[in-house]
Amino acid sequence: MTHDVIIVGSGAAGLSAAITLARTHKVLVLAKGELAGGSTAWAQGGIAAVLDAGDTFENHINDTMVAGAGLNRRETVEFVVENAPSAIERLEAMGVPFNKEAEVLHLTREGGHSHRRIVHVDDATGWAVQEALQNTAAAHPNITLQPHMVAIDLIVDRNAVNPTGAKNVWGVYALNNSTGRVETLTARATIMASGGAGRTYLFSTAPRGATGDGIAMAWRAGARVSNMEMMQFHPTCLYNLEVKNFLITEAVRGEGGHLKLPPSEKGGYQGGGQRFMQRFDPERMELAPRDVVARAIDHEIKRLGLDYVHLDISHRDPAFVKGHFPNIYDKLLGLGIDMTKEPIPVVPAQHYTCGGILIDLNGRTDLPGLYAAGEASESGLHGANRLASNSLLECFVFGDSAARDIAAHWDDMPTPPAIQPWDESRVTDSDEEVVIKQTWTEIRRFMWNYVGIVRTTKRLERAQHRIDMLRGEVEDYYGNFRVTQDLIELRNLIEVADLIVKSALSRKESRGLHYITNYPDLLPVAEDTILVP
Ligand code: FAD
Ligand code: SIN
Repeated sequence: MTHDVIIVGSGAAGLSAAITLARTHKVLVLAKGELAGGSTAWAQGGIAAVLDAGDTFENHINDTMVAGAGLNRRETVEFVVENAPSAIERLEAMGVPFNKEAEVLHLTREGGHSHRRIVHVDDATGWAVQEALQNTAAAHPNITLQPHMVAIDLIVDRNAVNPTGAKNVWGVYALNNSTGRVETLTARATIMASGGAGRTYLFSTAPRGATGDGIAMAWRAGARVSNMEMMQFHPTCLYNLEVKNFLITEAVRGEGGHLKLPPSEKGGYQGGGQRFMQRFDPERMELAPRDVVARAIDHEIKRLGLDYVHLDISHRDPAFVKGHFPNIYDKLLGLGIDMTKEPIPVVPAQHYTCGGILIDLNGRTDLPGLYAAGEASESGLHGANRLASNSLLECFVFGDSAARDIAAHWDDMPTPPAIQPWDESRVTDSDEEVVIKQTWTEIRRFMWNYVGIVRTTKRLERAQHRIDMLRGEVEDYYGNFRVTQDLIELRNLIEVADLIVKSALSRKESRGLHYITNYPDLLPVAEDTILVP
């Protein structure tokens, strides 16, 4: 089937692009599960924008660059920060009910921000944003929303009936999970808005579908990817043996929450029940950027053999805590923790993929007809460490700019040629489902152990060795059996793990999120890690 534009992803980036494009073009939006199944719906803290009279664009730019350890591209940072207030206006116009006090948007604070600048909807901003974008898109006659459709690979010249050597991308092959058939979906332009790769790690705050599909697909099609070693770990994920990936928003620290060592019941260590961030960042304490706080917690956990540390906001007025964090309060109470009276056990967990498909300010990738936006992309905004609440913002700004670029250049974009249908000869169902699941867990475990918050070249080499061994097995399954969602995701997971490890091995310094003990220093010049297919 041919469409004007295909967008892979129905989160903040994909839907923002669809809504802008629908003014002039017909758009097909794919989601691999439910439409609200991406990270967007799970976002808690909010969206950063300069909206307070005492704040300035320069402050927001500076905070973003400080958190990003100088690896950010300043031009991108300026572009995003300056477009933030209008992005918030668009969301308000779509009905996002941001919290207000006396008719003025309420701004909260998070780590690394020098001012209050985060607009939010209680502690469940993402859900409200997803709902407003989804309702707007569903109501538009030019937008078709297609859930349960798993993009497998981009359609490129070698898939054409008569290849010409062009570098264009012409759409995607996608597994329709409702029919079990692979469909050939062509378009003049394709936007990859498929989110991050958090599930490459054993512990992650991201939803199950965050397997880096778009990054892997773009790489296989021939696009460059950058800064994949910059994996962000959020300092405060709930430690709970049943609920493994529930985030405790940074806004809890923004509103006065303290990180403490748990009491040492047997007097086994000093400082039980006390704050510890003064030893790591005495000025910014709990509000230091995420890489600093996550490393500090990791250090204390390893040093003392702890399972978790405590995040404590019980010193604040209970009505304030319940009013600001109603969803987290309810969730924790259901697990037997009253956050107004007692501390919350927390650990760091993978949270955000700073690297991705390399794009310019118009969301263009290296390949004509292929655009990318949101967490799947690397725009230069985040550098070596994303500043809190800059991610949703990036989705709105780049979703919109990619859409505008496509509309502006529509007449120059060639129509897709005749494309070969998907090879349906692989009809045997794999009888190795259990092996696919085991391989998936194996990757996630060694990535957590060897490519986590603190790295060494030796550990990275071990991870690389395992990836090289598993890659053959995965390709074997992929080449011989009927494709399933699990198999598609496993193939992408190993691809992305490879990109992360190769990038990490090539950076011979510690910068931002990439902390490697045998290269502890910062090199004088900040350079992107760009992998070329
Ligand atoms: P997503 O919202 O993840 O959407 C990805 C889409 O791609 C989904 O629709 C998915 O189905 C689809 N997809 C993926 N692969 C395929 C495929 N193969 N075929 C078809 N479709 C596919 N950021 C902030 O700025 N502020 C916050 O407060 C905040 N809180 C967060 C809290 C949590 C728990 C998490 C996990 C993240 C948070 N973030 C926050 C980060 C932010 O939510 C994400 O970076 C952002 O939502 C990513 O949006 P996206 O549109 O790029 O991708
Ligand atoms: C949070 O609420 O702590 C997450 C914010 C973000 O990831 O930007």
